Amino acid sequence: MIDIFCLENKHIVVTGASSGIGRETAILLSRLGAKVSIVARRENALKDTVEAMEGMGNRYFAFDLSDTDNIGGLVDEIVNSAGPVDGLIHCAGIGANIPVSVTKTAALETLMKTNFYSFAELIRLFSKKKNFNKGASFVGVSSVASFKGDKTQGAYAASKAAMNAYIHPAAKELADKGIRVNTVAFGVIRTEAYEKFLESGGQDSALKDQYLGYGEPIDAANLLVFLASNASRLITGSTIVCDGGYTS
Ligand SMILES: NC(=O)c1ccc[n+]([C@@H]2O[C@H](COP(=O)([O-])OP(=O)(O)OC[C@H]3O[C@@H](n4cnc5c(N)ncnc54)[C@H](OP(=O)(O)O)[C@@H]3O)[C@@H](O)[C@H]2O)c1
Repeated sequence: MIDIFCLENKHIVVTGASSGIGRETAILLSRLGAKVSIVARRENALKDTVEAMEGMGNRYFAFDLSDTDNIGGLVDEIVNSAGPVDGLIHCAGIGANIPVSVTKTAALETLMKTNFYSFAELIRLFSKKKNFNKGASFVGVSSVASFKGDKTQGAYAASKAAMNAYIHPAAKELADKGIRVNTVAFGVIRTEAYEKFLESGGQDSALKDQYLGYGEPIDAANLLVFLASNASRLITGSTIVCDGGYTS
């Protein structure tokens, strides 16, 4: 059988891999032969992910990506210890439910830093000479909220829409270097974060329109792995929608 998603000898960075979609993606990548460097804040959870991965050479880097001024040091550490990258999958992100009436600049800034500024900074730094291999694929995890945000999702939706907008020029600018840049807009994926949101009394009005039902983390990981692999080599500057029909 030909494995079109073979990622043998590829070095892929996955942010937000201490839980949820990022963790599932890192594990799947390792099963397909990739060497994976994972980033998030919770060190113990990162260690758990590394233990669940297959193969040698997987590493974790405990780092707060909202500290955008110091992402350069993180990128140097990753490249110095594991080599140039063949892919970046930016899953790290935070959500928030804030009504417009109380959405102040500080709240917008918090969401923008973790979800978008860090993505732009990672793209800038990993696309520097010697930090990537030709054919590299950079993917940002966005959300359908960026097209069709529900009440109180303004700050979150704007941060994800910024990611979608950024990739068009980025894809054109980085094409000469052989780097592709895309985002994926996910609908509801049943991660622990989503379960906690429901347990805390959160109402999921989106799910009624997601007529294929919610996704599992593996559904998200399958698409992200495809985008990291050469099987998607003609896809760049695109936001791929994966939402069980929500925006259809
Ligand atoms: N689940 C869904 O329905 C859904 C739908 C659309 C889009 N998304 C997006 O998918 C991504 C993953 O979400 P998820 O559902 O898997 O939730 P999750 O389990 O809460 O994952 C979020 C990840 O981001 C990391 N993170 C958050 N802030 C960070 C920071 N300042 N620095 C470094 N890492 C940080 C978290 O790790 P630490 O806490 O250890 O730092 C965690 O690993 C997010 O970008 C989310 O917006 C999710």
